[in-house]
Formats: sequence, structure tokens, C-alpha cells
Amino acid sequence: MDLSGVREAYETGGFDEADLADDPFAQFQRWFGEVEAAGYWEPNAMVLSTVTADGWPSARNVLLKKVDADGFVLFTNYTSDKAVEMDVSGRAALTFSWTELRRQVRVTGTAERLAQAESDTYWATRPRGSQLGAWASDQSAVVPDRATLEAAYAEAEDRWADRDVERPGHWGGYRVRPSMVEFWQGRPDRLHDRLRYCLDGDGGVWTVERRAP
Ligand SMILES: Cc1cc2nc3c(=O)[nH]c(=O)nc-3n(C[C@H](O)[C@H](O)[C@H](O)COP(=O)(O)O)c2cc1C
Repeated sequence: MDLSGVREAYETGGFDEADLADDPFAQFQRWFGEVEAAGYWEPNAMVLSTVTADGWPSARNVLLKKVDADGFVLFTNYTSDKAVEMDVSGRAALTFSWTELRRQVRVTGTAERLAQAESDTYWATRPRGSQLGAWASDQSAVVPDRATLEAAYAEAEDRWADRDVERPGHWGGYRVRPSMVEFWQGRPDRLHDRLRYCLDGDGGVWTVERRAP
């Protein structure tokens, strides 16, 4: 398939330093509100990139569940490939692709597990079916067939029949604390706006730089 003829026009408005919020979290929330208003399906989907112990890049979609001044929060299985990779490297990158709005946000930072109480709080909001699924799926492991998965789910249903499903110890959240957050706005003639917040040393001060598109 040759996609070289696919062209997109970038006729949206610009994005200048003067438009930026004081910190990347406020700026993210501003853009996220606009993405939600635009009617995206799963506007909180993001690519989580990690690196394996032997240096291979590794990327997959996950859902952003919370963002505040402490960082970006996601949930997963602690025995999954991504979790092992974050535990070993302590690092992660996130990419939000909101192409209908000609926008992208990139995040790089440290990755750490949430406190158990924080994972418990979110677990309690999950639909029962998702909770049972977390017990049934040994995420990232090889499974012989679909029937094995369905049998594990049925087993979880029996085990937790008539009572609340507890959070498995192997399931919980991560917080990505950014040291870099870049906002990209598509513009005509490939002169896109790239404005990047960088955390300055230990002082916790965000500086902004413009990068060539
Ligand atoms: C839109 C979308 C959202 C997803 N959200 C999550 C999520 O929040 N947590 C998760 O563990 N997997 C999520 N997944 C599945 C992951 O992409 C991936 O298949 C799974 O986590 C296993 O990844 P790993 O083997 O690299 O650890 C999502 C997939 C898609 C397509």
C-alpha cells in the first residue's frame, strides 16, 4: 500500500507562547477539554512507550485515568510486559494523537507505582465485569486459546459470586511524572507549532522552548 499521495491540510489556528498556561498540566486540561467537546471516542487513549531491559522500544495504547500536578495516571496488570518495563527502567513516554484537531501531546518522565490506597479507590469505580477480567487475565502471558481465557473468567465469577470483587495484588496504577511535555499544533506548509515545557533542574520550575517542526 503506497500512502505517499495522502495529504492533509493544516488550516487550524496557531498556537503561540502567549496562549500557553503556566504549567503543562493546566495546558493539557485545556486541550483535553477541547478534545472532549469535539466528540472523540476515548479521547483519553494514549500510546504508552517503554523500553525493554535489552533496549527494545515497546509501545501500546492505554487509557489516561487521571491527570493533576503530580502527573499522568494509568492502570494495568503489574505482571504485564509494560509494567515490568516501567518497574525496571523507571521511565515512560506518553503520546496523545488528536489528529482531527491537528494536535499531538508528548510526555516523557519517570514511572512509579501508585500507593495501594489510590489503586483501591479507582478499582472500586470499575465495572464488575472489568474487575473479574483482571482476575482472569494474566496479561501479556501466552494463552493456548480463547476457551482458556473464558474458563478463567468463569472461575473468577464463581470465586467472587455474591460479594464484592477485591482488587488483585497484581493490578494497579502507575503515575508518569513528566520532565517534558510538548504540545504540537499542525499549521500550513509544515510550519507546525511545537511548544515544549521542560522541568528545570530540581527547582520544579517549568520553562518553555519552541522546537523546529
Ligand atoms: C484504546 C485502548 C485502550 C487500552 N487501555 C488499556 C489500559 O488502560 N490498560 C491496559 O493494561 N491495557 C490497555 N489496553 C491494552 C494494551 O494496548 C495492551 O494490549 C495490553 O495492556 C498488554 O500490553 P503489554 O503486553 O505491552 O503489557 C488498551 C488498548 C487499546 C486499544
